[in-house]
Amino acid sequence: MQRFVLAAASALAFAFSGAVLADGDDDYDHKPEAQDFIHGAPEVPSEAWTLAAGGRIYDNWWSALDRDEPEGTNPAYPTGLNTEQTGAGTWRCKECHGWDYLGKDGIYAKGSHFTGIKGINGAIGKPVEEIAMTLRDANHPYSTEMISDAEMLRVAAFVSRGQVDMRSFLDYETRTVNTGNVERGREIFQTTCAACHGFDGRLIDWGEDGAHNYVGTEARELPDEVMHKILSAHTGVQMINLRAFPLSDAIDVLSYAATLPLDPPAE
Ligand code: HEC
Ligand code: HEC
Repeated sequence: MQRFVLAAASALAFAFSGAVLADGDDDYDHKPEAQDFIHGAPEVPSEAWTLAAGGRIYDNWWSALDRDEPEGTNPAYPTGLNTEQTGAGTWRCKECHGWDYLGKDGIYAKGSHFTGIKGINGAIGKPVEEIAMTLRDANHPYSTEMISDAEMLRVAAFVSRGQVDMRSFLDYETRTVNTGNVERGREIFQTTCAACHGFDGRLIDWGEDGAHNYVGTEARELPDEVMHKILSAHTGVQMINLRAFPLSDAIDVLSYAATLPLDPPAE
């Protein structure tokens, strides 16, 4: 008797799970992989995801989208103005328009990243389709193999609706953060960023050739770049971003990050 009940119960359980599998679509059989998250898109993209993903294309589209790195210098990159960049980097949106989106009127007004090209802030609020068309013009020799139409709409959405005015929290003379609630930044950093970067931001070191580069180093030296990464994440890796939260949270994390240590930990 007991055996019969057990057998009936397991037959029922089998029938039930079979029904669920048969009715579900193929996605239930798909085992998610990190690459799907890093380079892919969710089935129903939210506004915050779209803007962050567009921001990563703006940062470095081939790393964000898992495409081949472009060969040689971008033919649209200006020469003859004492511009200094060459190679694949000249294909990055940020190289001509800046991490602060202000081009020649922002942080890239001087220094090795100067191009004399204006920012993208003039395109804030423009229709996304119109912006996406601009991104296939002579200034933007991107093929659909490099950036597909759907991906171009994503970066255009970022241009239209995802830019922040960094002049409201950065000192442009010293390129440092000049506002923000450090205590609020501390609680956000310790409960989110620290999971990967450690409490003091030194768990991941992306410095090269013996130099050290931690969250603290970069927040102090390149706060405009760090703000872009806080809102969009670093490309090609598993990192979170704060796009879904109020901008003040991102500013507070940036100001706290700028207090973290620069020197390598003692051995
Ligand atoms: C090699 C340099 C270069 C790169 C890289 C570049 N652009 Fe541009 N972009 C330009 C130039 C030049 C203009 C025209 C500026 C002008 O009209 O004075 C422009 C104009 C724009 C405009 C129009 C701005 C306005 O005020 O209407 C937008 C938006 C834009 N670019 C976005 C992007 C995006 C997004 C990317 C990356 C997918 C990108 N650009 C990559 C050089 C570049
Ligand atoms: C799930 C893990 C994870 C979390 C959480 C995370 N990061 Fe990252 N972050 C990474 C990885 C991985 C890199 C790539 C490091 C490298 O280039 O070697 C990175 C890179 C960075 C960079 C450097 C980008 C560059 O220019 O090379 C900054 C700055 C940064 N993260 C800040 C933050 C901040 C601030 C937070 C919290 C809002 C955060 N990260 C949360 C994993 C994470």
